[in-house]
Amino acid sequence: MTVLPGQAAAAADDAAAAPADPLVLAASWLPSAEDVPGPTMTLSTVGLDGYPSARTVLLSRFDGHRLHFHTDRRSRKAAELAALPRAAVTLVWPEAARQLVVVGDVAPVTDAEARAAYVARTRYLQVLAWVNDHEAAADTPARRRELWAAFEHERVGADLEPPATWAGYAVTPVRMLFWRGATDAASNRLAYERHDDGSWSQESWPG
Ligand SMILES: Cc1cc2nc3c(=O)[nH]c(=O)nc-3n(C[C@H](O)[C@H](O)[C@H](O)COP(=O)(O)O)c2cc1C
Repeated sequence: MTVLPGQAAAAADDAAAAPADPLVLAASWLPSAEDVPGPTMTLSTVGLDGYPSARTVLLSRFDGHRLHFHTDRRSRKAAELAALPRAAVTLVWPEAARQLVVVGDVAPVTDAEARAAYVARTRYLQVLAWVNDHEAAADTPARRRELWAAFEHERVGADLEPPATWAGYAVTPVRMLFWRGATDAASNRLAYERHDDGSWSQESWPG
């Protein structure tokens, strides 16, 4: 077969863009640990009634193997994950024409990991983790502002520790879909599937 100029280079580019290990590709798409907390993602769980249950959360960290997120242990998602520890997360970067969908098994992170993520959050999000409960949700907006101000007043200048309700989880991928758009070619997805022995298979999908 005759290789036309540029073809070999293009093939090498494609191979580089589709590494055998999707975690390597994920590391080049996701922000590094120093950029915490990272972008938002849609976290989909299986609702207790069997319907999908989805909401936005922050990607707290990608540790090279797992995607971490944090929440309140009294939340619906926590109850859903206790019943079935599986989830999908969807991240989208429209300006870069990229979408990443990760499906996997969910497990709690260690206390040290959860604390580190709390410390890395903005003060607003640290306070939010303390004062965001069903009681506050049922209050008037004015009353919620009063509760917030009272909490801040009591702890002015003090570093905050995570409340007992602060919970961290990490998704270990079993499937990863890297979608890439283009303006001069069809969009396509690199679809990876993890096998029991830890190896990954790879396919190219349309869409
Ligand atoms: C931009 C954005 C970021 C959010 N980040 C988080 C987060 O990191 N953790 C979290 O528990 N909720 C976060 N939320 C709130 C969730 O979307 C959701 O309303 C809340 O966690 C309750 O969800 P649940 O009842 O399904 O458990 C965020 C919402 C928005 C709009």
